[in-house]
Amino acid sequence: SETRIETEALTPSRAGIDHAAALLRAGQLVAFPTETVYGLGADARNGAAVAAIYATKGRPSFNPLIAHVADVAAAQKLVQWNDWAEAMAAAFWPGPLTLVLPLREGHDVSPLVTAGLQTLAVRVPAKACARDLLAAVDGPVAAPSANPSGRISPTTAEHVRVGLGGKIAAILDDGPCAVGVESTILGLAGDMPVLLRPGGLAAEDIRSVLGHPVADRDAMDPLTAPGQLLSHYAPNASVRLNATEYDPGEVSLGFGRGIFDLNLSEHGDLAEAAANLFGHLHALDARGMPIAVAPVPEVGLGVAINDRLRRAAAPR
Ligand code: TXA
Ligand code: MG
Repeated sequence: SETRIETEALTPSRAGIDHAAALLRAGQLVAFPTETVYGLGADARNGAAVAAIYATKGRPSFNPLIAHVADVAAAQKLVQWNDWAEAMAAAFWPGPLTLVLPLREGHDVSPLVTAGLQTLAVRVPAKACARDLLAAVDGPVAAPSANPSGRISPTTAEHVRVGLGGKIAAILDDGPCAVGVESTILGLAGDMPVLLRPGGLAAEDIRSVLGHPVADRDAMDPLTAPGQLLSHYAPNASVRLNATEYDPGEVSLGFGRGIFDLNLSEHGDLAEAAANLFGHLHALDARGMPIAVAPVPEVGLGVAINDRLRRAAAPR
């Protein structure tokens, strides 16, 4: 199973997008950029293609995937829409928000995408390259982050090539991802909206638009809330959080003023810090020393940044 294939490097030209779409429609795996992270795409209607995502990433098959679609109308063909979904999509799509809704009768998504659940995670990404690709495919594209399961998520085509080169048909390269952490996941399939994963859209923004309390995922039945694994986003090096002093044998990742090997944001800007997070972790990991990370405030995008850092630091 270690057969290596040639991974094509594609540009976001008309020809590059059309070729990427043709590969997806033929059941191949293609990595493509979104505004959050690079995704590993497969035609969500093709069970064999979706199975190849799990095999290629080494992802546990009980962990369901997000279906990416070009617009609201395409999402409504797959899931049972409701007023909360309408409000969220109007305010935040296209963008870094994933909605979990009940599957709609007659949908054509492979059961492997949902890992057998009766709900589906859907998202309309904002990055033009991703939207052009989805329009060209003209169907839902299942896409987890384009990294081996458990490792640091990719925010450049080079990160994808290092992690999955030789195992997938193509990588569509449209530069670094602007948001830099995965989408926020909001569950809208029950009596109460549930924040299932903090991400690139701040929970404060969701709450201010929804006009309804939002529960945290701990409130959910574990059977309907698939696991986000505690150890995830893991560099090879160990990670120490909330560091205020640094050992000579460590490399430092800073936030705000100070002297660090790399800084998430000198000005203490959380959006800039999110955009730099995975790239800086990849770069520090390459130095082969333990990584010590300065404290990041737990507000706005800081919640998603700290979530990813805690998972990077968790026992493996
Ligand atoms: O920004 C993103 O969301 C990126 C880009 C590529 O769009 N994708 C991404 O996918 O982060 P992935 O597979 O790494 O994370 C998807 C998360 C998983 O934690 C999974 O458990 C959850 O979505 N999920 C998927 N379907 C679900 C469902 N039906 N109910 C609850 N959670 C679900
Ligand atoms: Mg992931």
